[in-house]
Amino acid sequence: MDVTDFSELPRIVTPLLAWYRGTARALPWRSDPKPYHVWLSEIMLQQTRVEAVKGYYHRFLQKLPTIAALAEADEEVLLKLWEGLGYYNRVRNLQKAAQVVVKEYGGELPADYEALLKLPGIGRYTAGAISSIAFGLPCPAVDGNVLRVIARVTASEENTSKEPVKRNFESALAASMPQNDASAFNQALMELGATVCLPNGAPRCEVCPLSHICKAHQLGNELAFPLKDQKPARRIEQRTVFVVLSENRVGIQKRPPKGLLRGLWEFPSAEGKLDREAAICYLKIIGLTAHNLVPLGDAKHIFTHLEWQMTGFAVECTPCSDCALTWVTLQQLREEYSLPGALKAYTAALGSLLSEK
Ligand code: ADE
Repeated sequence: MDVTDFSELPRIVTPLLAWYRGTARALPWRSDPKPYHVWLSEIMLQQTRVEAVKGYYHRFLQKLPTIAALAEADEEVLLKLWEGLGYYNRVRNLQKAAQVVVKEYGGELPADYEALLKLPGIGRYTAGAISSIAFGLPCPAVDGNVLRVIARVTASEENTSKEPVKRNFESALAASMPQNDASAFNQALMELGATVCLPNGAPRCEVCPLSHICKAHQLGNELAFPLKDQKPARRIEQRTVFVVLSENRVGIQKRPPKGLLRGLWEFPSAEGKLDREAAICYLKIIGLTAHNLVPLGDAKHIFTHLEWQMTGFAVECTPCSDCALTWVTLQQLREEYSLPGALKAYTAALGSLLSEK
């Protein structure tokens, strides 16, 4: 395997910046790139699309407008603000880092790549993004989108899943980037990867400002890059989810303090896809006498290493005091309890199963 030839990389700077100036999306954290705002947006944008993030971003800052407020927030408040975004450790680390920032830096993020890198939840990409976007420092910020763009431009035959290869890409970008325009340069690369140099069979080379420089394009083989490790297959778990209703309330439980979706709330559920009889039997075991079982249909959710294939039932039951559920109204559920996005097919059904009062 040949090492990557970065000698043409400096040629991308001018066309990339011109393209970015003409097409950059107006994003809330771009118009007001305060360090806290950039940090929050970058953490939210990991694994999540810009359009999905905007609403969360505004709500989060409304409730927790400063790093000090974030440091002091209750876990339930944090999880509610992150509800549906997934990867909940992101917000836990955000808070841990905020607590360090309050203690060690007087509540303001340090304008220093190495210091940022030491904070919980901040890796090389995020430290580079904050350093360049919020502080104008000439640090590269290489995420999956940027790796793809550079791997295609250089037709790199190296495996971009490997840490030393990523570091080489970072060094090459650090050497090529405009020293006084790192923010625009990094964001332009991210933006190009997110909107033009797309993965999975759909690059839009006809509108790419770098197509005349791109070696993968010259080879007519954009999709061969980047080279990556194969992802391990996901484990599949089948579950039956019960939306248990009694006296216009729904019964929920808190997930254990360790493991997947820890600390979030959920509907009770059983392993496997149960039919009606088995469902009634299971409900009896957990102390619920069910009448009127209504199928809510199937749903699935994909996590990084796991896929839930679910079927659901709405269950009307006699009030019970000794089963281990917390009974909440629709309004309480909406305002105070955080349920994972994985259950949204069933949370959505609640609007027609419970009345507002
Ligand atoms: N993805 C993550 N951060 C981004 C940014 N600042 N601009 C464009 N896309 C991004």
